[in-house]
Amino acid sequence: MKIDFANLQLQYQKYKDEIDKNIQKVLNRSNYIMGEEISLLEEKLCEFAGAKYSVACGSGTDALILSLLALDIKHDDEIITTPFTFIATAEVIALLGAKPVFVDIDEITYNIDPLKIEEKITDKTKAVICVSLYGQPCDMDEINKVAKKHDLKVIEDAAQSFGAVYKDKRSCDLSDIGCTSFFPAKPLGCYGDGGAVFTDNEALAIKMKQLRVHGQDRRYHHKYIGMGARLDTIQAAVLLAKLPHYEDEIRLRDEVAKKYTKALKNTDVITPVVKDDRTSVWAQYSIRVKNRDTLQQKLKEASIPTAVHYPMPLHLQECFSYLGYKEGDFEIAEKVSKEIMSLPMNPFLKDEEIEYIAKNIKSAL
Ligand SMILES: Cc1ncc(COP(=O)(O)O)c(C=O)c1O
Repeated sequence: MKIDFANLQLQYQKYKDEIDKNIQKVLNRSNYIMGEEISLLEEKLCEFAGAKYSVACGSGTDALILSLLALDIKHDDEIITTPFTFIATAEVIALLGAKPVFVDIDEITYNIDPLKIEEKITDKTKAVICVSLYGQPCDMDEINKVAKKHDLKVIEDAAQSFGAVYKDKRSCDLSDIGCTSFFPAKPLGCYGDGGAVFTDNEALAIKMKQLRVHGQDRRYHHKYIGMGARLDTIQAAVLLAKLPHYEDEIRLRDEVAKKYTKALKNTDVITPVVKDDRTSVWAQYSIRVKNRDTLQQKLKEASIPTAVHYPMPLHLQECFSYLGYKEGDFEIAEKVSKEIMSLPMNPFLKDEEIEYIAKNIKSAL
């Protein structure tokens, strides 16, 4: 049996007619930049996520930069975030000359521990970027509460969690600003780079739309120092074809996750836990094991691809050495990064494939 990790090929085959038709429409009109699909997609994304405004942009990384620029984050400002995430989350903070200040994670959800945020707040702190890792929203009520108390903005890095539900709202609509990514392997992916920012604040939305096109409020009149951060019209066309299927795919991903968890019960594997008041869109199904390298090797021999998200927490990355963190600073993030491992996850994984993966894990253990 040969297992596909994200199976984008099968997904394309399923929706091929709609995707091809939508792309063809753009090609026929040749309006590749800011074509009408962009505003249509923004409307549909808002309907889906529940936010008032969305700004489609070039990537999840662009979405984060647009948010920080919109909030006027500057040199020497401090932004609190998690060390257990993809580099982009903290990279964008440093890129703008601000300082990432890390806070350890919760051992159950792997998201930032809201109880440890307050002790890191100084008079330079301007915002918190929390990350809804692997598809599960963070403890947003607690994070918003501490942020409000100290007059901080909250950006949810929802690159992995678009579509997840927290209490009665969707990820991306849970704080001042939500950012997502449409990278192909994300739960809702396009066929290249793509992303979006969400907010209920009209002034922020207008500013981010201007920042997306080099800060211009009219053609060749530049109000802000901005970026070229537009989403390609063709990528919007792909997303418009895929979005109507997304709810169904989320349900299928959840079924796959439940089957994995059941199949791995009563083993030494720590399976993921989703809190009762929220759902996950399962960007990853990540387990924890003590002997990860051996297990990955054995699974590879059985043609089962695996991945590690992420092998080194950000406070120990070379690029952040100037911040002066050292090993032992964030014990949970460090422990989890040594044990975590993602299994193949896509809506189309068959029962026999899940059983095959679970059987190989059990025999390798
Ligand atoms: C948590 C997180 N933040 C930000 C990003 C950046 O998104 P993109 O690759 O679309 O720039 C990613 C993508 O992997 C991510 O997982």
